[in-house]
Amino acid sequence: MFDDLSREKLAFLPTPLHRLKNLGNSIGLDELWIKRDDQTGLSFGGNKVRKLEYVLGDARKNKADTLVTVGGVQSNHCRQTAAACAVAGLRCILLLGGEEPAHYTGNLLLDRMLGAEIKFYPNDGLMTLNTRLNEVIETLKDFGLNPYAVPAGAEMPVGTIPYAIAMEELLTQTKKEQFMPGKIIVPTGTGGTLAGIIIGAHMLDLDIDIIGVSVLSDAETTKSRVQNLISRIIDEYPEVGAFKPKIHVDDSFIGDGYGILSDGVKTTLDMFAKMDGIILDPVYTGKAGLALIRMALNGDIPSDTPTVFWHTGGQPALYAYPELGDV
Ligand SMILES: Cc1ncc(COP(=O)(O)O)c(C=O)c1O
Repeated sequence: MFDDLSREKLAFLPTPLHRLKNLGNSIGLDELWIKRDDQTGLSFGGNKVRKLEYVLGDARKNKADTLVTVGGVQSNHCRQTAAACAVAGLRCILLLGGEEPAHYTGNLLLDRMLGAEIKFYPNDGLMTLNTRLNEVIETLKDFGLNPYAVPAGAEMPVGTIPYAIAMEELLTQTKKEQFMPGKIIVPTGTGGTLAGIIIGAHMLDLDIDIIGVSVLSDAETTKSRVQNLISRIIDEYPEVGAFKPKIHVDDSFIGDGYGILSDGVKTTLDMFAKMDGIILDPVYTGKAGLALIRMALNGDIPSDTPTVFWHTGGQPALYAYPELGDV
């Protein structure tokens, strides 16, 4: 699948797939599995390491000397981009939406350790940051550099295709374990991970209910971003073949907003950790985990449906939530 794409190896693959026996038993799922993309390896791992392999491949093809990307102050994507640049020997510039804190913690601390140049901007949304990204790219070109723009979350075809390829990896593992997933639950921000998984399932001819749990935008907005990525990939890569995707986005777990903790998320972090030793993150997988638990307890996932929870990483952000340590 997509064998002609340029790739720079960064991730430790395949990531493990294993059972969550205790959590599964407690929420009435006979076969609950977890796909450990928190273990992609590079600088605490996460889903962006897969994406960055192909982003870097493309940047190299374009002879880029600098990667510029954007995100929130605690962006996992920015931390993984900084790490990828460190490995590749490229300059990394991060445009972060939010105030510079007095003390660097979590992902921000790691960004600095990884050698990224960090600039702070008012926190007025990812779209505005993406516009700033274009402005910075133009300025760098004026200075004779050859910068490569990576939009928030690597929401671009080469940042999406790696998750189609990851479906091939998952299928090899599920065949070995002798089951076929009926449902996949994955946290969704910009939508690239979900779009890639949907494309992979289509190319492998799999009939799986793939549920993107939105942590950022309402379902309609997220679906149109996912559809847009899928359409671009169908246009640019004929091997995908035209298809009308079923895009399932659940926006009922956003709570009070992006990155805002709720009691439900705190309980979810506790349940995964105490039952199966799995550390989730407070922004993405905590909300997707809450969705999984509620759906199972409400009977929206039949007990005999093999279900894969896709862990996308993000744990360094835990250290930027001191309130999690309140006793
Ligand atoms: C830990 C984690 N999970 C999920 C996502 C969402 O991925 P996507 O933007 O591809 O929807 C992100 C994005 O930053 C993330 O950091």
